Amino acid sequence: MQIGPYRIDPPLALAPMAGVTDKPFRLLCKRLGAGLAVSEMTTADPRLWHTRKSLRRMDHEGEPEPVSVQIAGYDPAMLAEAARFNVANGAQIVDINMGCPATS
Ligand SMILES: Cc1cc2nc3c(=O)[nH]c(=O)nc-3n(C[C@H](O)[C@H](O)[C@H](O)COP(=O)(O)O)c2cc1C
Repeated sequence: MQIGPYRIDPPLALAPMAGVTDKPFRLLCKRLGAGLAVSEMTTADPRLWHTRKSLRRMDHEGEPEPVSVQIAGYDPAMLAEAARFNVANGAQIVDINMGCPATS
């Protein structure tokens, strides 16, 4: 499986799950063989990026590639800015939350 320049090998992905796919769980799943492990959703609203929860969710230090981040929001311009911000913060693949019930 290929996503842009990133080869997902093996082609086995851990889906984004709020409250579940935090960094320790992603590291564990990658160590046990997942080719891709998507982060918990991170808010696209910059007013919330300084919170403890957001700072923890945006920490990708030491995470094996490809680093995949899910963002959640309602405004296209805000989502685009959040995607750029997360890429600058280590994200290589950006996933957009399309209405997972955990967002409501
Ligand atoms: C506890 C839990 C939290 C979830 N949180 C998210 C989320 O934050 N973003 C999202 O896109 N999907 C979320 N999902 C949906 C999963 O990513 C996945 O699409 C769903 O569980 C179906 O997976 P399956 O096709 O492997 O059965 C969540 C699912 C569960 C069970």
